[in-house]
Amino acid sequence: MTYSLTKKVREKLEEEARNVLDFNYNGRFTKPAPNLYPHQWNWDAGFIALGYAHWQPERAWSELRHLFEAQWQNGMLPQIVFGTEWEARYFPGSDFWQTQGVAGVPEGVQSSGITMPPVHGFCVWQLAKLDPDKARVQKMLHYFYPKILALHQYLYTFRDPNEEGLVYIRHPWEAGTDNSPLWDAAMARIDLSAVSLPAYERQDLQNSRAAEHRPQQADYDRYVYLVDLFRKHAYNEAAIAAECPFKIQDPLFNSLLIWSNECLIDIGKTLKQEVTQLIEWNELSIYSMNEKLWNESTGLYDAYDLVSRETIACTTLSGLMPLVAPVPSQEQAERMAQTLCSAGFWGTDANPLYCVPTTRVDATAYQPERYWRGPVWINANWLLWQGLQRYGFEKMAKQVRLDSLELLARHGFFEYFDARRDAQSAAGYGTDQFSWSAALCLDFIANKKSFHKLFNQR
Ligand code: DGY
Repeated sequence: MTYSLTKKVREKLEEEARNVLDFNYNGRFTKPAPNLYPHQWNWDAGFIALGYAHWQPERAWSELRHLFEAQWQNGMLPQIVFGTEWEARYFPGSDFWQTQGVAGVPEGVQSSGITMPPVHGFCVWQLAKLDPDKARVQKMLHYFYPKILALHQYLYTFRDPNEEGLVYIRHPWEAGTDNSPLWDAAMARIDLSAVSLPAYERQDLQNSRAAEHRPQQADYDRYVYLVDLFRKHAYNEAAIAAECPFKIQDPLFNSLLIWSNECLIDIGKTLKQEVTQLIEWNELSIYSMNEKLWNESTGLYDAYDLVSRETIACTTLSGLMPLVAPVPSQEQAERMAQTLCSAGFWGTDANPLYCVPTTRVDATAYQPERYWRGPVWINANWLLWQGLQRYGFEKMAKQVRLDSLELLARHGFFEYFDARRDAQSAAGYGTDQFSWSAALCLDFIANKKSFHKLFNQR
């Protein structure tokens, strides 16, 4: 199905996308959405900055600066930086995380105590390429390089116990793909029958269909259990590592780290810095992705559970995300493209789909309307679009871009979308006025080609 993006639609989308970002901008940072997400989120800030890069580079840089001002002394970059709108309803708020006063948390910063996928290396490099003010670019590269390096150092130091170049997440929120089926077995193993959980009240069920679209109560209880564990240990990484029942090597998280390493190496060279350490980290990470996570029979990269010491067979789009980075060989990439073209991800004439459901539609875990268990997400499509172009799959990349723009034009700037083309009620789900849907729409419109194609970076 070919969607034609007319000039009129494109211009309308652009104007509306800018309005969403302006509406969510509070003078210091851009909220992911007005009500559901009223603070600053880590990887959201990266994607949001990519949209500003085409329109207000100054704001793109300041978005990331605000985030990095909350970086902990050990290099950890928080998943949420809480704003000052204290009346804003969000759970868990900064009081629940209890990070204030923890050693190494910057004075005055209110943040959560976990991180998120490391998108900052490639975001900063893309901003640098797009910003016409080269004096500012130099200043910004000097500012961000040591900070992103410290974040990667944190990940390789505290999250890679086997020293194999594969870092683990210790909470599903760190993956960004909160209720992905990839976490099901590990979450199910957390037995809460004899645990007294701290009292809490969810704030994410305000929308009338939220109970059908958001993570479930059993997920939330475990999210809370993990936060409680971290705060009991005052965010001491060694103590947490010894006890945490959730430690997973996620192919998406690690691929974004590798892409960011690659860009950081380029930034470091531009700044005449010594980049040997980065090169070593990256070579090891790429090697282990292929040795440990590649699954030749499914044509996807799997995840690995460090607690149960088991491979988690991947049925989600995260298994194709290593295309964004120099991870697969061309031959592996061809195999991944075949997987992407299969009925579970690409649909069939009888079951037409929008590109690309986040969980295979033929997987038992697939739920077409529930958050990361099936719906299309614009950031996942944007990443895949980057990866497909890196390996020369132009036709598929074009389809992913057009489907994304079609969904946005038809339904608006929702958080996620039903992948079923012929579903009667198919629509956008979650919150509307979602910032990264707007920001990446601007990038999709401005750049017919991916970052990699435009700047020849390999
Ligand atoms: C939420 O609150 O749903 C977020 O995804 C956590 O980062």
